[in-house]
Amino acid sequence: MKPLINKQKVVFFTGAGISAESGLETFRDSDGMWEKIDVMSVASTTGWQQNPGLVLDFFNQRRQKMLQAEPTAAHHAIAELQAKYDVVVITQNIDDLHERAGSRQVIHLHGSVLCGRSSVHADRLYPISEKGIQLGDLCEFGSQIRPNIVWFGESVQNMEEAKRHVIEAGTVVAIGTSLVVQPAAGLLRYARFHANKMLITLDVGSQVPFGFRWIRAKASECTHLIKSL
Ligand code: OAD
Repeated sequence: MKPLINKQKVVFFTGAGISAESGLETFRDSDGMWEKIDVMSVASTTGWQQNPGLVLDFFNQRRQKMLQAEPTAAHHAIAELQAKYDVVVITQNIDDLHERAGSRQVIHLHGSVLCGRSSVHADRLYPISEKGIQLGDLCEFGSQIRPNIVWFGESVQNMEEAKRHVIEAGTVVAIGTSLVVQPAAGLLRYARFHANKMLITLDVGSQVPFGFRWIRAKASECTHLIKSL
C-alpha cells in the first residue's frame, strides 16, 4: 500500500538548469556541454577504458569550475524553505551548490565531483586533492581512482531512497531539467495525484509529466513561487 501523502514534505527535483545562472553549462541547450564534447568519450565506461587521462582532465576542469561557482537565488530559496517544511532535494547535478546554499537533505542521483572512488569497488570513496585526480592515484586495492560520477550505462545512485520521498511528498517541484535522462526523470511519475506539482524550466525534451504545471522561466525568476509554497 502507498504511504499517506505528507503535506509537510516538499521534494525538489533539480537538473543542470538550476546551476546555469551560477555559470555552469547545461548539457542539452544549444550551447550546452554535449554540443561541444562527445559525451561517450568523457562520460562512459568505454571512454574511461579508452582514454582515462582525457576523462580525468575533463572532470578535474569541471570540478574546479564548480568549486568556484556560487549558489543562485533559487538554490537559496530552496534552502530557506526548510524553516517551514521537510525539504528533500533530489538532484541530477554533480555540483555541491545545494549543500553550499544550506540544504541539509540532498540526494545525488548522478554522483558528486567532491570525491573520487575506486574503479573496482564503487563504495570506496576518496577525498580529491587540490590537483584533482591524476593518473596513478590508486585506491587501497591498487586500482586507479576515478570520479564518483555516474556515467552512461552505469546504475543511478540512491534511486530507491529518492522514490520513497517523491511518493510521500505533498509538493514536488522540478527545476532546470530537460527530463530526457532516465531513469532519473521517471521519478516524477511517482508524484501523487493529489500532490502540488510544478515544473520550472525553459524547455523540456519529453512530455511534461502528468499533473505538472509547467512554468517556462528561469529558476531565479521563480523564487517567489518557491518562497510562497
Ligand atoms: P539538460 O542540459 O538536459 O537540461 C537543462 C534544462 O535546464 C533544459 O531544459 C533548459 O531549458 C533548462 N534551463 C537552462 N537554463 C535555465 C535556467 N536559468 N533556469 C531554469 N531552467 C533552465 O540537463 P539535465 O536535465 O540536468 O547526466 O540533464 C540530465 C543529465 O544529463 C545530467 O545529470 C547529466 C547529463 O548527461 C550525467 O552526466 C550522468
